Amino acid sequence: MTGRAAVVLMLLLVAFGPCNVAALPGSSTTPDIVSTITTTAMASCGCTNASLFTENSPVAACRKAILIETIDRLINETFGDRLAQLEAAVQPTTTTPTCFAADTRFMLANGSSAPLTAMTTGDILKCVNNTDGTVIDCPITTMGHVEHTLETTFMRLHYVDSQNQPQVLVVTPDHFLFAPTKNMTECGNLPNGDYIAAYNFGVGSPLVVYENDCLRTTLVTAVDHVVQNGFYSPATTTTTVVAEGVVASIYSESELSPDFYDILMSPLIREVESNLPIKDYENGLHPYILKVFEIITTELTPEEAAYAYDAVDQEFRAKNGVMTKEEITQVFLDAKGSL
Ligand SMILES: *[C@@H]1O[C@H](CO)[C@@H](O)[C@H](O)[C@H]1NC(C)=O
Ligand SMILES: *[C@@H]1O[C@H](CO)[C@@H](O)[C@H](O)[C@H]1NC(C)=O
Ligand SMILES: *[C@@H]1O[C@H](CO)[C@@H](O)[C@H](O)[C@H]1NC(C)=O
Ligand SMILES: *[C@@H]1O[C@H](CO)[C@@H](O)[C@H](O)[C@H]1NC(C)=O
Ligand SMILES: *[C@@H]1O[C@H](CO)[C@@H](O)[C@H](O)[C@H]1NC(C)=O
Repeated sequence: MTGRAAVVLMLLLVAFGPCNVAALPGSSTTPDIVSTITTTAMASCGCTNASLFTENSPVAACRKAILIETIDRLINETFGDRLAQLEAAVQPTTTTPTCFAADTRFMLANGSSAPLTAMTTGDILKCVNNTDGTVIDCPITTMGHVEHTLETTFMRLHYVDSQNQPQVLVVTPDHFLFAPTKNMTECGNLPNGDYIAAYNFGVGSPLVVYENDCLRTTLVTAVDHVVQNGFYSPATTTTTVVAEGVVASIYSESELSPDFYDILMSPLIREVESNLPIKDYENGLHPYILKVFEIITTELTPEEAAYAYDAVDQEFRAKNGVMTKEEITQVFLDAKGSL
């Protein structure tokens, strides 16, 4: 994720996420921290309180090393949970549309597969209709997030296809894949189940795969992790894709409420936005998503943002689930100073 998006998302999470600033250890811990640093440095550097800050170079070097180590440890102890939350928050995948490794092949309407970099928005993929569970054709409408080269840690889910060939899907761990609640013994429509984050899948977990016009379940044979460069979050009208043969969502686990996430994404999945080759997209979040996040995090108070979430929800219902990017953005702009 680029610096700017990371900062915006971090701010978003600080403002609206699970990190409660008021609940953090406050200034009352400062004297304890100073005294811990001093005593640790004195003990470790073999110096007195008075000589701790001398120019004597061995003491100064020791002091510097000890201070960095001690401050680091204190920060970890004091803010560890919060740091972990913030680190998780700025992982692009926790708050933005889901991510497939850059070389992931998606099934096209004619049954062949290709990486997104060989495609253009408007190209027709094979998708699953979540309402009736049938496999249908659906267009790539736009890209939610593009990172052509960013180094990213992915999860690899291995399975064996009907030709006994090993297959592997490379996705970020929070990416939603379809988890069926029962095994299918024959080809059929999508069985009962849910889209859940990839990290829930282990060896033996059932997956739904699609090959040779047959939708069926199979079991994960192995799971491991890999670092690769680049990822893509395509949007499709059905919010589903067939990636490396596996039925997957275009979404991932998010700190945002599912209702708001659906509203936010709705203009991006309703219609094809352009005919831009995917390799020509610039790195980063979709500009509309970035804009809404920027308004929420830099222009609105938490109260105004909460008001805006309600307002956009009401307007979305009133308009039968059809709002443009501009209309949604406007609700957030209008919330400024409204209370
Ligand atoms: C070291 O000096 C500081 C400042 O004078 C004092 O507050 C602190 O108690 C001293 N610490 C020890 C361990 O003597
Ligand atoms: C602080 O936490 C980070 C991240 O978990 C870790 O890499 C580092 O070693 C820790 N430092 C200390 C001094 O405990
Ligand atoms: C399927 O469609 C793609 C994109 O239109 C095309 O490049 C490919 O050659 C087609 N494959 C087959 C087997 O027809
Ligand atoms: C999905 O299935 C439902 C129920 O059969 C149908 O009404 C709807 O038109 C289908 N959607 C698409 C895009 O084919
Ligand atoms: C699916 O089949 C596998 C292997 O036969 C079994 O271990 C697993 O429990 C089954 N899962 C369900 C949900 O029935």
